[in-house]
Amino acid sequence: MNQAISVLVNKLEGLAPKTAIVLGSGLGAVVDEVSDAAHVPYEDLEGFPHSGVSGHAAQVVAGKWDGTPVLFLSGRAHYYENGDASVMRAPLETLHGLGIKRLILTNAAGSLRSDMPPGSVMQITDHINFSGTNPLFGEPSDRRFVGLTNAYDATMRDEMRAAAARAGLELHQGVYMWFSGPSFETPAEIGMARTFGADAVGMSTVPEVILARFLGLDVAAASVITNLAAGMSGEEISHQETKDMAPLGGKRLAAILREMLTSR
Ligand code: HPA
Repeated sequence: MNQAISVLVNKLEGLAPKTAIVLGSGLGAVVDEVSDAAHVPYEDLEGFPHSGVSGHAAQVVAGKWDGTPVLFLSGRAHYYENGDASVMRAPLETLHGLGIKRLILTNAAGSLRSDMPPGSVMQITDHINFSGTNPLFGEPSDRRFVGLTNAYDATMRDEMRAAAARAGLELHQGVYMWFSGPSFETPAEIGMARTFGADAVGMSTVPEVILARFLGLDVAAASVITNLAAGMSGEEISHQETKDMAPLGGKRLAAILREMLTSR
């Protein structure tokens, strides 16, 4: 057993969560709702990234959310930090080693749809990898040829939609397009993204989806919309805006996920 798995097995004291949630920008407050939580900083876990993005914590939080065991990765590292698309591989392998079966990924994103303004929540139905890279570059086994036809698990998508309906919250559906960042897109790039079929753009999540499918985890994902994409509002986009706006949609997404997990 590797170091990270054995540290977490000890800390979890038999909790055995089946679902893990990766919390993106502005969603970290969700973990405050978890009772009897174990907190483990990433720096205590071998292979975990030391995330430096402001707006992100860097810890594993595991406990019961309204009675349901769940493990959170609070904070992620991004491709744009060091040019390593596989930076989240060790954390996801650790989840797999702990017996996690289902992974829910969250992020902040820019919207290409004026009917999906800041504060909205979008379930990701499919993605476009526009980064030119892949977290499985260098993976030697034939398992690297991961099928992504059903990357976003149909059952989990249905459960998330049903949870949103029960919570009385709107949940948009759309395609997420991964740009490498860290610079934001140009208006011309957003025009291209729209032509390509994107509904939202962002700088994360897609490499984690690929790694999770490589590991055999079922995946669902959702974006909180923090801004209209470049060129749509006439205003410059900033990371400060992402941090300021994420908690608005973040509260809605947290309510949807709570309903999804705790009513199973
Ligand atoms: N583009 C890319 N990533 C983002 C955006 C955006 O407009 N908003 C939040 N994350």
